[in-house]
Amino acid sequence: MGEVSAPRRAAFGTQADALFRKNLVYQKRNKSQNLFLLITPLVVVALFAYLESKLKEVSAAKSDQEVGATEIKEPVSWPPALYIPSNTSRAVGFNFMPFSDLPSPSCRISGDCPATFLLTGTNRSLVMGMAEQMFPPIENPNDLDGLVLATSFSIPQNYLSDPAFDPNSPLYYLQSKCKANSSIPFPSGQELKCLEGLQLWRNSSSAINKEIYTASDGNKHKEANKFAAAFDFLNTNRANFNVTVITRPSAADSLIASMRYTITRLPRLVNMASNAYLQVLQGPDTKMLFEFMKEVPTIIRIDARIPSHMDFFLRTATVAILLYPITVLASGIVYEKEKNLRIMMKMHGLNDIAYWAISYLYCLIVSLLFIQFYLIAGKFSGLSFFTKNDYSLQSVFFFFHVNWQISFVFLLASLVSTVKTAQVIGSAFMMLVTFLSVFVASRCIESADISSTLIVFVEVFPGFSLYRGVYEFQKYAAFARNGAGFGMGWKNLSDPGNGLTTAMTIILVEWVVMLLLASYFDQVISSGDGKKKSPLFFLQCLKRNQQNLQRNSSQLFPTNDSSDVAQERKKVEQLMREANQASTSHTAICDNIKKIYPGRDGNPPKAAVKGLSLALARSECFGMLGPNGAGKTSFISMMIGLTEPTSGTAYIEGLDITTQMDEVHTCMGVCPQFDLLWDTLTGREHLYFYGRLKNLSGSRLAQAVEDALKEVNLFHGGIADKHSGKYSGGMKRRLSVAISLIGDPKIVYLDEPSTGLDPASRNALWSVVKRAKQNRAILLTTHSMEEAEALCDRLGVFVDGALRCVGNPKELKARYGGYFIFTMTTTQGNDAEVEDMVLKLCRNANKTYHLGGTQKFDLPKHEVRLADIFQLVENAKSRFPVQAWALADTTLEDVFIKVTRQAQAASDE
Ligand SMILES: *[C@@H]1O[C@H](CO)[C@@H](O)[C@H](O)[C@H]1NC(C)=O
Ligand SMILES: *[C@@H]1O[C@H](CO)[C@@H](O)[C@H](O)[C@H]1NC(C)=O
Ligand SMILES: *[C@@H]1O[C@H](CO)[C@@H](O)[C@H](O)[C@H]1NC(C)=O
Repeated sequence: MGEVSAPRRAAFGTQADALFRKNLVYQKRNKSQNLFLLITPLVVVALFAYLESKLKEVSAAKSDQEVGATEIKEPVSWPPALYIPSNTSRAVGFNFMPFSDLPSPSCRISGDCPATFLLTGTNRSLVMGMAEQMFPPIENPNDLDGLVLATSFSIPQNYLSDPAFDPNSPLYYLQSKCKANSSIPFPSGQELKCLEGLQLWRNSSSAINKEIYTASDGNKHKEANKFAAAFDFLNTNRANFNVTVITRPSAADSLIASMRYTITRLPRLVNMASNAYLQVLQGPDTKMLFEFMKEVPTIIRIDARIPSHMDFFLRTATVAILLYPITVLASGIVYEKEKNLRIMMKMHGLNDIAYWAISYLYCLIVSLLFIQFYLIAGKFSGLSFFTKNDYSLQSVFFFFHVNWQISFVFLLASLVSTVKTAQVIGSAFMMLVTFLSVFVASRCIESADISSTLIVFVEVFPGFSLYRGVYEFQKYAAFARNGAGFGMGWKNLSDPGNGLTTAMTIILVEWVVMLLLASYFDQVISSGDGKKKSPLFFLQCLKRNQQNLQRNSSQLFPTNDSSDVAQERKKVEQLMREANQASTSHTAICDNIKKIYPGRDGNPPKAAVKGLSLALARSECFGMLGPNGAGKTSFISMMIGLTEPTSGTAYIEGLDITTQMDEVHTCMGVCPQFDLLWDTLTGREHLYFYGRLKNLSGSRLAQAVEDALKEVNLFHGGIADKHSGKYSGGMKRRLSVAISLIGDPKIVYLDEPSTGLDPASRNALWSVVKRAKQNRAILLTTHSMEEAEALCDRLGVFVDGALRCVGNPKELKARYGGYFIFTMTTTQGNDAEVEDMVLKLCRNANKTYHLGGTQKFDLPKHEVRLADIFQLVENAKSRFPVQAWALADTTLEDVFIKVTRQAQAASDE
């Protein structure tokens, strides 16, 4: 009960969640850009699909252009396969058929229609004897020689592969009778299924011709009803072998197709007949085996049915589209850097690893969506680039590309600091790669004179490997369109001349290298998180020992503290001695904290903070005053963890800022000098985001956001749901303060919170701060004395790296103001008497003004007592008419100027 749990740092998951939701909302606001991102590929794909289909018709006849060439130095050898019609078109006994010995049409449903062969000849018994030998039974599953393999692929993809032997396509072996569901494994990895080969005798070849014609093309019902083949053995006898093979090159819709059919599928039919004849003659041990088929080594030049400039444009457009997300993603990341939002998030506890991991994941999801959208749109459009090539291979290639692209985006983001620059460089890169690949990369790849090693070097140029990949996919798509091959699949990666593997390797290597460079530049160049490291920061562990020596050996800056500063130092030392710091009543204790910037270019080291000791009580608002360049910013930077102190440390709620900064972030709030807000996020979304970073969730989060909005007066009138870009300066400032207060931080840093506000807004802001300071410590810097007096319980004047005085405003004025200003107006003639009286009261009184009967005197405070002054006035009134008199204390401004001058004078000596 009533126990306050220690502030817990938001887990990685919570941070990731917060960041992710914020990104989603941010992206949702970027509708037009995202829509453009998705629509562009759609439009291009649709346009090209249309062009491709149009041009296919127009240029079907003339094919004089070459799309590409590929060298086949060692053609693969393939077992010969027989062509059979597919199950649903194999010949069955429809009632219009002249013979009734065909299988029942129901086999089409059960999927086991036999492949039917028609036979004839002059000697029936001899022919049927040969038929028995045609489909040799399997004796040994390891010895498949002589087995009749069959496929429904009529157009073999010779040269590179035969689709019949693709692991995914059905391949059969023919038998006179099949055992149920019998199949054997085939070396290429696919399952070899048994299929019945039905052999039917007919009286004459004219009967066969008539039957074949009636079965398919000649029937009124347009039923597909195809025989596998027919043999007319003519006058074959024991001395004479004479055969006519009747066959159809099914799907022979092109010259090339029928030609390929002829050279690969037909010889098996002839071999089947001859082998059977030989076995009838010589007995089953004599075999005439047809082992494999293979083409001559060659260069294939593909005639383009679609003009190649079309492919060329598609390739260029594809590369440009694929590189387009760079601009979009980079501007998202650089925006947060340009607007210093990354510093802001860091100050509220977001760690770098979470930030980068989520940014990466986020970019990955956006890019993958984009790519998938592109691939699927391409697939539906029927564009051969997408339909002919293997989808999984394309997805993997583009996955590589997407990762490459993200690391490129990170590298770009680490090098530039404004969104404009990022966009310009991103677009310029996209165009450069597109044009260079047109004029350089494509010529190198296609040129026969350039060695493959040189091409690899060319491809190392960022973006060219993408071009190479697209080029390869397109080449295979063009082959496939022309009947040579079935597009690129996994097995084609090892094809001679296929550059995809090299391209993917280059992409992978560049991905790693660019990520490393990006993380290096992010630390060295980028001001993204406010820290810059030296270009050789990784050597620093060697230097560290040296630094420590220096740190301990000298008290670099002797302090001649004034009494109140010395007192504060003593208090801190006392607090530090108390063992359990968490139990003290002080939220923040700075223990002799120093910041020394190392000397550069021969300049001596610059001490920005020279040993500051300060203890902040709970519910205390401490105001830090000081001229510009006094070191306030350095001090605050150390306190909020942007820089590390050179020596000394500070404890926030007992947590050491040098070692436990991550925990400190959780109980700390910062309102920076400038409003660091996302223009397109609403006030409410900002608070939700930072609330989640502070480990709030569920109803607690909702309540905290609502309270915060009410507190800063942004709750009503729907202001909370307006984009922060539309807020007035005062509203932005109040939102920033609300952000710094969300999650109930124990200490809040407000850096000049009211700068640039009109008096009404300023008053509103002040009341927020006043309410907020009731249960937390606030450290506030300001240039407004009025603000300091209104808000702060204690003030410190910070000059030249050191605190010069500490105390509450009244004390300070009393101590440093040093004099009262006494004014008295009398009738003329009495002024000499007034001056006498004043000088009598205080010898060092200094007359600063005299006009008519009015005189002003500075009275050193330590020489006069207020009572004496009042006495003097009473005295004067009794002697002559006093028209008016006044006694004024010095203002805080006088104190500030005086302390600053003294300090500067001291340091000049
Ligand atoms: C037909 O062939 C068989 C078997 O080879 C043979 O015995 C027979 O004499 C042949 N008939 C004719 C008429 O040639
Ligand atoms: C086929 O031959 C058989 C007997 O040899 C005969 O009965 C039949 O009429 C013949 N059919 C045709 C169509 O010639
Ligand atoms: C093959 O048969 C045809 C038709 O009967 C015949 O004209 C031809 O001479 C035969 N060829 C041989 C080599 O027997």
